[in-house]
Amino acid sequence: MKRTFISGASKGIGFALARRLSDEGQNLLLQASSDEGIDRLKDQFGAKGHLFWKSDFTNPSSITNELEGLLRDFGTLDGFVHCVGIRSRRPLSLFQLEGMQAVMNANVVSFVETMRIITKRGYFNPGLSVIGISSISAHVGSPGVTAYAASKAALESSIRCLAAELFKKSIRVNGLVCGQVNTEAYHELMSSKESEADPVLQRQYMGLLEVDQIVDAICYLLGGSSSQMNGTMFPAHAGFLS
Ligand SMILES: NC(=O)c1ccc[n+]([C@@H]2O[C@H](COP(=O)([O-])OP(=O)(O)OC[C@H]3O[C@@H](n4cnc5c(N)ncnc54)[C@H](OP(=O)(O)O)[C@@H]3O)[C@@H](O)[C@H]2O)c1
Repeated sequence: MKRTFISGASKGIGFALARRLSDEGQNLLLQASSDEGIDRLKDQFGAKGHLFWKSDFTNPSSITNELEGLLRDFGTLDGFVHCVGIRSRRPLSLFQLEGMQAVMNANVVSFVETMRIITKRGYFNPGLSVIGISSISAHVGSPGVTAYAASKAALESSIRCLAAELFKKSIRVNGLVCGQVNTEAYHELMSSKESEADPVLQRQYMGLLEVDQIVDAICYLLGGSSSQMNGTMFPAHAGFLS
């Protein structure tokens, strides 16, 4: 039975991925940061024998302290998908050091620390496939999203470096560059805006992406069909960056 760790599994892309992999019969380690997130995971997957982990990745020392023990119980991984992503929208005049540090910690530092723990004592099977969810924000300048965009650019760079470093251990590391996806987070974002039109969708000319399309792409990167791919940024942006 394959084992996959999904961080940020309680909503959106992570939740849909958990459903797909669970239906395929995989054993899952599912992380969320809130009680509501963990409750949602238990409601959906409680009967499936998966392992649940509540952890705040803005403080990566929880990963340092807790993940190794969890993996010892859970077993060696075939997949790790980092779906945790904190969004932040702030003009420079409202910049806060702690806010940017929290975004960097959750979006990228926690990813690297997780990789350190997984590889430290070999909590992986040969062929481990690792995927970090990036964003078009890493590739275009938009006002107010400096912290989020910088964190995703750093995530992409760390993916390339880890891919080059870990291929000798038979580990592949790839990124997925997502455009606007039809998730709860997207609807929250749109409801907080005055205008009804989403300017991103003017450039994302193939339209809003559905979560299942993103899950299809992640499953491709997780599986053996992508065995030649390493250190790549798989485009899932419906034309935005073309
Ligand atoms: N949705 C889009 O349009 C879009 C576009 C481009 C890229 N992405 C990227 O795709 C990924 C998933 O986004 P999404 O919209 O599907 O999901 P989401 O609604 O942003 O859910 C994020 C997940 O991360 C967890 N999380 C939040 N804060 C955390 C923290 N401090 N520590 C640990 N976990 C935390 C949440 O747990 P709780 O439920 O417990 O809070 C939840 O499971 C993110 O990396 C995002 O940047 C999304």
